Amino acid sequence: MRRISAVVLAVALLSPSLPTTSLAAEQAGISPETVTDYLHAVIEAHRTFYTIHVVERLQKDGMTTAAENWRAKKNTLPLPVQFLMESNELAMKTGTRVNYRLISLWPINPLNAPRNASEQSALDALRKHPERSVTGTVQINNETYFQAIYADHAVSQSCVNCHNTHPDSPRKDFRLQEAMGGLVIEIPMGR
Ligand code: HEC
Repeated sequence: MRRISAVVLAVALLSPSLPTTSLAAEQAGISPETVTDYLHAVIEAHRTFYTIHVVERLQKDGMTTAAENWRAKKNTLPLPVQFLMESNELAMKTGTRVNYRLISLWPINPLNAPRNASEQSALDALRKHPERSVTGTVQINNETYFQAIYADHAVSQSCVNCHNTHPDSPRKDFRLQEAMGGLVIEIPMGR
């Protein structure tokens, strides 16, 4: 018994291919908060880039505009929210069951209102502390998902202008950099 432990110890000490930090990480796993933080960073980067360097740029040049009915209407771009929803649908098709969507206390589309009291209070909390995500668990189809909600900021003047002038927008005084709503990210806890 003592002999085996000594051999194991010697292998562990001598082997350069056993970095202790990666073993520790494997045992501890990655927290769901960290996973949603990673996803948020990527989704937000795509959203900001698309809005500033595609939608705003082409609109400024007078080349095209973004519109709800972009599929039917020639020479129009998907709205930033549609870009996000379309990308979410493709992500869901991968079978990972990660899903994300935008919600707001002042939605142009009533379907983007908070779905329940806890989403409502998450949006209230994000108004006061936009830098802190609101996390918890939710049940979707009898399965537990980790949910994180991040503030969705008006990163470009085009966010503000479009929402403030949209006939269905319940708010007309959004300002640059303000949190206009929340990005909800849900990942299954099963695995
Ligand atoms: C050209 C117009 C336009 C631009 C630019 C635009 N939006 Fe929107 N946005 C809309 C419309 C229209 C909807 C509702 C679409 C739907 O779901 O039918 C929407 C939806 C949203 C929602 C979900 C709640 C709601 O209002 O229905 C949020 C949050 C949001 N936008 C924030 C932003 C932010 C932040 C930006 C900039 C990064 C932005 N929008 C840029 C038109 C725009």
